Amino acid sequence: MYPDPKINESIKKVEAAREANMKLDPRRMTADEKDNLLKTFHPDYKEAQFTNLRIGPNKGDKVPMELAALLEAKSRLEGYSVDLTKPHFDTDVLIIGGGGAGCSAAIEADENGAKVLMVTKLRVGDANTMMAEGGIQAADKPNDSPAQHFLDAFGGGHFAAQKDLLYKLVNEAPEAIQWLSKLGVEFDKAPDGTMITTHGGGTSRKRMHAAKDYSGAEIMRTLRDEVINRGIQVIDYTAAVELIKDENGHCAGAVLMNMETKELMVARAKTVILATGGAGRLHYQGFPTSNHYGATADGLILGYRLGARLLYPDTLQYHPTGAAFPAQIYGALVTEKVRSVGAMLVNANGEVFMNPLETRDVSAASIIRECTERHNGVSTPDGYAVWLDTPMIELKHGEGTIEKRIPAMMRMFAKHGIDIRKEPILVYPTLHYQNGGLKITADGQTDIENLYAAGEVVGGIHGRNRLMGNSLLDIIVFGRNAGKEASEKAKSVTVGTLTLKHLEEFEKERKDARVESDKISPQLLPDYVRRENRGR
Ligand code: FUM
Repeated sequence: MYPDPKINESIKKVEAAREANMKLDPRRMTADEKDNLLKTFHPDYKEAQFTNLRIGPNKGDKVPMELAALLEAKSRLEGYSVDLTKPHFDTDVLIIGGGGAGCSAAIEADENGAKVLMVTKLRVGDANTMMAEGGIQAADKPNDSPAQHFLDAFGGGHFAAQKDLLYKLVNEAPEAIQWLSKLGVEFDKAPDGTMITTHGGGTSRKRMHAAKDYSGAEIMRTLRDEVINRGIQVIDYTAAVELIKDENGHCAGAVLMNMETKELMVARAKTVILATGGAGRLHYQGFPTSNHYGATADGLILGYRLGARLLYPDTLQYHPTGAAFPAQIYGALVTEKVRSVGAMLVNANGEVFMNPLETRDVSAASIIRECTERHNGVSTPDGYAVWLDTPMIELKHGEGTIEKRIPAMMRMFAKHGIDIRKEPILVYPTLHYQNGGLKITADGQTDIENLYAAGEVVGGIHGRNRLMGNSLLDIIVFGRNAGKEASEKAKSVTVGTLTLKHLEEFEKERKDARVESDKISPQLLPDYVRRENRGR
């Protein structure tokens, strides 16, 4: 039920056009059309929203202003004296972050016989993995191949992916699905036991494996259980606030902070894996986000301060279909699977304006154009939106399809009185993913010896745009990879004297570059204090 009469008038137009719209097969845009669209409407091209870094290994590179402020900020440890001589924890592999990549790494490092310590600033599983809905890609059907998967992802990422990383991603995908299945993930299956797979934006084959539209929650549940069952040491509500080096310049641990008491602790480690996830809660350009509460780019800050380079920090993913109404779920993810199973995007006049399965950057830009330049958006209390015509799904595939294939979507809207089987829903792009991040080699190591990274904190696997379902895949493939490699490396590491000297060098670089901000990073939690309440 939509309370606004204007919205209801627009719904009537959507309903009147539905039958004809369902017969349409909108053509895909040409490469030139996509380029022009992106340059004019995609937020990554709004030059005024970016700045060039003044310090650090990416000095001179373009990054979003919000991220630059954190990368150039002061250390949280300024003014503190940390005793590095008596570490509170001593471990082979320290894993920072308790999402899908961190847990996959922990399981493999444990399997390899390493002593593992996992710290997480919230709780294990409080991560973007848990929020993922639509599925995980793997080319494991007879009509498909990793080569085909590579081509789709390479093109979708604007030919910018690091080829060795993408090669690993697609080749190890089928094994990743088997690994998850053996651990207990309940993927959707046909009565004969074969996996049900669907298309995502930009895929040439149906290779999206899903657990209804709770895919991330199902994967996270399984990985978390495995970590707990193995007895891996996990410390919740404990953030890493700086990485530590040893006298040889190798990463050798982290300074930890208890999120409640603010007590500082030192963890010494032979190898460290950053698996801190994304940055949606920085709300670049004022966008809402589909991300979990802790997505504040912490790993980028920690790695950068230690001297690790970033790759493509200027490219973000705005998921085309964030919920745009009602306000309580503004920005929440409306999975791409809704379009995979048959819903089309239509404007306020009930007109189909694009193929529903263009890649994400193109889809988001197309929706923004519809609502801005073309003035065909539906006016909502929070701005503008377009329709995702969900009733098409059951008209195409029969009654019960929505409850069976996308129950999470049905419930999310039902809580607010909207029955997506009968009424279309309002959507607008929402900040979903950071395509860029720490540069790694195929063995998962950053520029800094003994510092590994996995998951959304990594840049370069997907190039400048990621296809749906390749993130759940990358946290598994590269999480496991980092766990194996870091635990193997730990066998030959002797940690030298611990030092935080790099912080002094960083502070000097700030001063020399005349960075005057008093901002402190990593941010750790989103900044939601109302302006008028600041300082109280
Ligand atoms: O639309 C989605 O379900 C999101 C998937 C993804 O980001 O891979």
